Amino acid sequence: MVTTSSGMSDIVAGWKSEGHSVAFVPTMGALHQGHGALIEKASELADRVVVSIFVNPLQFGTGEDFDSYPRRDEADQAFLRERRVDVLFMPSVDEVYPPGVVITAAAGPVGDTFEGASRPGHFDGVLRVVKRLCAIISPDFALFGRKDAQQLFLVDTMVRNEGLPITIVPVDTVRAPDGLALSSRNAYLSDDERARALAIPVALAEAERATTLSGALAVVRERLESEPGLTIDYVAGVDPETFHQLDEDSPLREATLIVAVSLSTTRLIDNRRLHFPQ
Ligand code: PAF
Repeated sequence: MVTTSSGMSDIVAGWKSEGHSVAFVPTMGALHQGHGALIEKASELADRVVVSIFVNPLQFGTGEDFDSYPRRDEADQAFLRERRVDVLFMPSVDEVYPPGVVITAAAGPVGDTFEGASRPGHFDGVLRVVKRLCAIISPDFALFGRKDAQQLFLVDTMVRNEGLPITIVPVDTVRAPDGLALSSRNAYLSDDERARALAIPVALAEAERATTLSGALAVVRERLESEPGLTIDYVAGVDPETFHQLDEDSPLREATLIVAVSLSTTRLIDNRRLHFPQ
């Protein structure tokens, strides 16, 4: 395990001098099979794999779960020992954000919609940490899950806008056998809430059978609204290329249907790419 930014950069510089490529999997820990899929893909793509565990304070708002976010360092290290990971980077806040080092990153208007509307400043915080970690690690590839579709879109946009020499690699959402998307926050759910959360994958599967976006949105809303204890934050169709909200009635070939709900104090998100017959 490496805890200092300079130590991490030195290791990567050594690998690069030997001609090795580097793939980076940023995480906030509480690792699960979704992270496992990112690591597996990383090890297929590059000679060396770095995983970071850093619970980034900048992406949590006041009253959010920064203090209670699951921290499972020992279990996470055991999880990583079973996989092809070359270095675990576990820096302190001061290593990531040393006094005097200014990291500018702004998510722009898309960052204020959907997740950003409910969590003001969240995506600015995500982009700042991703940019800083990538500056320390200089990866050739950085891997992100498709479950966090808006995060993936904004990171990819930042990398392209700034011309950073990194390929952002999306990896499909990993689901439990019953369909629930894996998330570190699933640990907050009681058994009863976990059962109610299944309304999300069920609704998304029903949406796949719809022939229009308005039809898909209607079945998802109806399914989620009929689940006691589940509150919808948003259900919307977005353009996969721009992440702009789509007019529900316009004729479309495809859309990404995005969902956020709360079960008690736990917020869950999921999404599905939909294709419509013309
Ligand atoms: O998706 C996450 O776990 C976090 O947002 C990330 C990308 C590790 C940045 O803190």
